[in-house]
Amino acid sequence: MAQKGEREQWGTKIGLILAVAGNAVGLGNFLRFPVQAASNGGGAFMIPYFIFFLLLGIPLMWIEWGIGRYGGKFRHGSTPGMFDVLWKNKLAKYFGTLGLFMSITILIYYTYIESWTLGFSLFSILGLYSNETRETMTNFLSSYQGITESETFTSIWTAYLTMLITFVLNFAILYKGISKGIEKLAKIAMPMLFIFAIILAIRIITLGTPDPAYPMNNVESGFAFIWNPDFTALGNPNIWLAAAGQIFFTLSVGMGTIHAYASYVKPKEDIVLSGLATASTNEFTEVILGGSIAIPVAVAFFGLTATKEIAAGGAFNLGFVAMPIIFGSNAFPFGEIFGFMWFLLLFFAGITSSVAMGQPVVAFLEDEFGMDRKKAVATLAIGVLIAVQFVVFFLKFGFLDEMDYWAGTFGLVVFALIETILFMWVFGADKAWKEMNSGGDIQIPKFFYYVMKYVTPVILMVIMIWWFIQSAVPTLFLYNVPEEKIPYIWSARILMIIIALILIWMVKKAWANNKHNEVI
Ligand code: ALA
Repeated sequence: MAQKGEREQWGTKIGLILAVAGNAVGLGNFLRFPVQAASNGGGAFMIPYFIFFLLLGIPLMWIEWGIGRYGGKFRHGSTPGMFDVLWKNKLAKYFGTLGLFMSITILIYYTYIESWTLGFSLFSILGLYSNETRETMTNFLSSYQGITESETFTSIWTAYLTMLITFVLNFAILYKGISKGIEKLAKIAMPMLFIFAIILAIRIITLGTPDPAYPMNNVESGFAFIWNPDFTALGNPNIWLAAAGQIFFTLSVGMGTIHAYASYVKPKEDIVLSGLATASTNEFTEVILGGSIAIPVAVAFFGLTATKEIAAGGAFNLGFVAMPIIFGSNAFPFGEIFGFMWFLLLFFAGITSSVAMGQPVVAFLEDEFGMDRKKAVATLAIGVLIAVQFVVFFLKFGFLDEMDYWAGTFGLVVFALIETILFMWVFGADKAWKEMNSGGDIQIPKFFYYVMKYVTPVILMVIMIWWFIQSAVPTLFLYNVPEEKIPYIWSARILMIIIALILIWMVKKAWANNKHNEVI
C-alpha cells in the first residue's frame, strides 16, 4: 500500500556510503575471510577472489543499487515490490520474496554470533581468559555457548543474556529509522571500527617473532602465506567456489539488503560512485585490514601448519579461540585491551550489517502493509526472537550451520542469478544501464555492460550447475552427517520452509489488499 507522506531518506552522502559500507563490512571481513583464505591455499585463494570481485561483486553491487533506487521511486523498499515493477508478471513479487527470506534468515543466526563478540569484548577487558591453551580456550567458548561446562560458564545464560542485549540494540536502531538510527550508527561505528582495526594491524605487523625458539613462526610468514600466489591450486574448483561464496557474503550481495538501503536514495542521486566506494571500502577493510590481523598473528604464535589446522577446525576457531589465546599470552602485552578492541570492532562490524538485514522486512511491512515503523519493527522482533531460540539451543547440532548453508551461501547465488536475469534481460539491459548511470557522478565503464549482461549470469549459472553435480545429492540427503544431528538439521530446514511460506503468504496478502506501484 502506498503510504501517504514523505518517504524516509538518507541525511548525507557520507552517511549513506558509511551505512552501505557498514552493511557490507561485517563479521565476514574479519572472521570468515581469514578462515576461507587459510583453508583454501592462502595466496591461491586471492586470485579467484579478485577475479570474482571484478566479475560478480562489483557488477552485482551496481545492479542491486540500481534495482533498489528504481524500486524506491515506486515506494518499494524490499524486493517483492521492486521485482514487481521490473517485470509485469504475477510471479515477479514471489521471486522477490527471496530477498526477504535471505535477509531475515541470515539476521536470525548472524545476530547471535554478533552477540558473542559483545560478550567476548567484555570478557577481554575483565581478563576472564589468560594463559589459555587450545584445549582450555575451546572449552571456554563451548561452555559459553552452553555446549559444555567450565568454571567460568556453567550454563548458556550468559550467552542468552548477551543475545537479548544485542537484539534489543538492533531493534532499537531499526526503530529509530534510516537517518536517525542506521545512518547515525554507521557514522559512529564505522570510524571506530577503522581506528581499532588500524591499531590492531599496526600492533601485529610490528610484532616480529614472538618466540625466538621458533624463528619461522613470525608475522612475515603469515603475510607471505596470503600474498604468495600459488597458481597450481587454481585447478581445484572448490577454491573457486569458496572465493565466489566469500565475495557474495562479504559484499552482502544476493541478500536484499543493498536494495533496501538504495531505495532511500533520492531518484536523481548518484549510485555509481557510491556503489564503487562501498565495494572498495569493503575490500580495503577485508583484504588490507582483515588480512593483516588474524592470519599473520596466528602464524606468528602457532606456526603455519597449526594455523591452517585451526582454520579448518571451524569458522569460529580462529576468532574466538586462537585470538583470545594470543591476547591472553604473556608475549602480547596489554592483551586485555587489544582483545577488547578486537571483539568490539567485530561487534561494530556485525551490528552495522545486522541492522541492514532487518531493514528489508521492516520496509516491506511499512511499504506494503502500511504499518508504522514501531509496529513493523515489533513484528520483525517477535518473529526473529522466536526463531533464534532454536539457533541458540540447538547450536551444537548444526542448526546454525544449516541455516548459513542455505541462506548465507547457496541462496545468495540463486537470488543473484534471478535478479541479474530480471534486471539485465527482462527489464532490459539498455534500460537497466540507463537507470544505473542516471545521476551518476561518474559513468560505469562500458566493459561492465557486457559483464553484467553476459558474464555475471553465466558465472552464476556455472556455479549453480557445478553445485548441482557436485553437492546437491549428498547435501540434500545428508550424507556424512552424524546420526544425532539429522533430526536437528531437518528441523532447521522445516523452520526455513515455514519462514518462506509465511513470507509468500504475506506477499500474496499485501498484493491482494492494495493498490501497488504508484510513483511517488
Ligand atoms: N557482509 C556482511 C559480512 O561480511 C554480511 O559479514
